[in-house]
Amino acid sequence: MAKNKQLKHSARASAARVIAEVTQQRRSLNGVLAAALIPLPENERSLCQQLCYGVLRWYPTLKFLSEQLLNKPLKAKDSDITALLLCGLYQLRDMRIPSHAAISETVNACKTLGKPWATGLINASLRNFQRKQAELEKTLEDHESAFYAHPDWLIQQFKQDWPEHWQQVLNTNNQQPPMMLRVNQQHNSRSAYLEKLKAVNITASELTSSHEALLLEKPCDVYQLPGFNEGDVSVQDGAAQQVAQLLNLQPGLRILDACAAPGGKTCHILEQQPDNEVVALDIDARRLQQIEQNTSRLNLNAKLLAADAGDTAKWWDGQLFDRILIDAPCSGTGVIRRHPDIKLLRRADDIAKLAQQQNVLLENLWPLLKPDGLLVYTTCSALKQENELQIATFLEQHPEAEEQIPDIPPAQRRSFGYQRLPGDDVTDGFYYACLRHR
Ligand SMILES: C[S@@+](CC[C@H](N)C(=O)[O-])C[C@H]1O[C@@H](n2cnc3c(N)ncnc32)[C@H](O)[C@@H]1O
Repeated sequence: MAKNKQLKHSARASAARVIAEVTQQRRSLNGVLAAALIPLPENERSLCQQLCYGVLRWYPTLKFLSEQLLNKPLKAKDSDITALLLCGLYQLRDMRIPSHAAISETVNACKTLGKPWATGLINASLRNFQRKQAELEKTLEDHESAFYAHPDWLIQQFKQDWPEHWQQVLNTNNQQPPMMLRVNQQHNSRSAYLEKLKAVNITASELTSSHEALLLEKPCDVYQLPGFNEGDVSVQDGAAQQVAQLLNLQPGLRILDACAAPGGKTCHILEQQPDNEVVALDIDARRLQQIEQNTSRLNLNAKLLAADAGDTAKWWDGQLFDRILIDAPCSGTGVIRRHPDIKLLRRADDIAKLAQQQNVLLENLWPLLKPDGLLVYTTCSALKQENELQIATFLEQHPEAEEQIPDIPPAQRRSFGYQRLPGDDVTDGFYYACLRHR
């Protein structure tokens, strides 16, 4: 009985199920994977996670290769077997698992998935790949989407927006992301926390772009970090850590964090000025619980509201704000290395819809700013339509608004605002613009 239970949940079979769910039902990797890891034996979880991230990161490439190995595509009801084949290819191409073990364990996973009929097919396809790998890899060069492991529409969009940097963007998106920390200045200076890390043999270095950011040489479990439970440190990319600096925080401010969950920036703002009044809003009530967890770990206080920030009649108490942060919902095209499922879940026509939502947030929240107040608009997108073009349109329609130039530019200057492309200074891709009432 116990043996059967374990078999039903091997790392490879679970990864295949997760990948099939993401690709077929267009569900986000984080949610599906978290549930899939729970029933897995502890020693299988890391492999399952590596397979899910790796296969989705290289999905266009692996799918293209698999199509050359199969006589015809498998039926939609067997998308778990298609995904399992991709897991097999990923192990052979990119993992340090001996190939005989990779093949036999992947073949065994067919039975775990309740599809023993597929064992011959998976075995033959993977062995065929081994024999013809060099020849098959060569064919990638003639197929841009498979070569760069991105959907065609996104490659074209990056080429159009960044004619000189699109290859850097695509290559960075295909890498495993580094882990970065934000040191809580209320508890330790960055250099003091570096010493604490050294004492537990964790190697890290200081990031120049932010006073609080550390880059870990190797990712680790957060609970290995000294003082994590006590709020000494949080996990946050260096690009996201620049936002609080742009808000020009001082004591006694009333601040709106309009799209706040899971609360990374809310907490950073409060770490810098714990006495500020921060109203943290998010449309997603479940994600609001993550802000609650983060503020309570860091012993900070924010006023949390579940609401559509753009529908101000439903939540606003009529008091203006000194600062407004719109960390807008966006395509996530600056953080693909952290969320490789974006390659599959986003579609070309999402971008105009997102730009429209961002515009509604800007238009409806701007009137809530005090005269001389500051609104900071940010996204983790690398596409101009959501970033500098969005702000250009807004400024054109609001002569009373002007761009405020920060003392220290957070990234490369654009026509309006500042853009960090994925991989600039090892950080995620990010966009920043600061707007002030004239
Ligand atoms: C980029 S994430 C914010 C990340 C967050 N600021 C942080 O630093 O942890 C965007 C958030 O906007 C929320 N959102 C989307 N549309 C919204 C709306 N109309 N009103 C309020 N929140 C919204 C999403 O639920 C999501 O949590």
